[in-house]
Amino acid sequence: MAKHSRPIGVDIGGSGIKGAPVDLKKGVFADERLRIETPQPSTPDAVADVVAEIVDHFAPAKGAPVGVTVPAVVTRGLVRTAANIDRSWIGTDAERLLSERLERPAVVTNDADAAGIAELEYGAGRGTSGLVLMTTLGTGIGTALINDGVLVPNSELGHLRIDGEDAELTASSAARENEDLSWEEWAERLQTYYARLEDLLWPDLIIVGGGVAKHADKYLPLLHLRAPIVAARLGNAAGIIGAALIAARAND
Ligand code: BGC
Repeated sequence: MAKHSRPIGVDIGGSGIKGAPVDLKKGVFADERLRIETPQPSTPDAVADVVAEIVDHFAPAKGAPVGVTVPAVVTRGLVRTAANIDRSWIGTDAERLLSERLERPAVVTNDADAAGIAELEYGAGRGTSGLVLMTTLGTGIGTALINDGVLVPNSELGHLRIDGEDAELTASSAARENEDLSWEEWAERLQTYYARLEDLLWPDLIIVGGGVAKHADKYLPLLHLRAPIVAARLGNAAGIIGAALIAARAND
């Protein structure tokens, strides 16, 4: 019997694949989240099996929409890059693959875009008009640009080159951990990165997400920018919630 008529969001990450049904009125999970390790190698087929396992676990009703995030550029369901997942994703029609595997339509979105949509609807960007720049600081750096509620997809500003280096290699949360940087040292790199983004885009609000957002008090006060820069509020739930919201909107 169907347990859920609510949309389901699934977030495909480099180490874990996580999903939950989402209560879109409140912007919260409607059931306990299920997490399964990302299979290695993380090929499209192996990952699709895990996504199906997660979706089946929640026994969604026939018409319940499913939204899925990937850490990659996605244009009309087609995965175009693969920075932190298996390279065989490049060129995969992920919407077709997942829709066939799940036997229901799946909407596939870039992970940071989904997180940004969720923060704008339920979190730190709520009620903000103008240009919101969401950044997720994790293994890589993901970005979302949302202007007056409208997403400009696949902004990929984590790969901005600063001093000849890909920004995510020096300013991501993983870079801080791998190089054992103090919060102050890392904040200097963030300052350079966000100041550059700000000079190029002039956002009205910058939101900092990813797991490290919960330690925002350690580094955000050290940054000096024109726009307010605030911590995301939905934590690691943002991708799942945004994916479900995007899928529900697509089904409307
Ligand atoms: C990818 C983006 C992704 C980000 C966060 C980057 O390396 O290029 O597509 O949003 O990592 O996962």
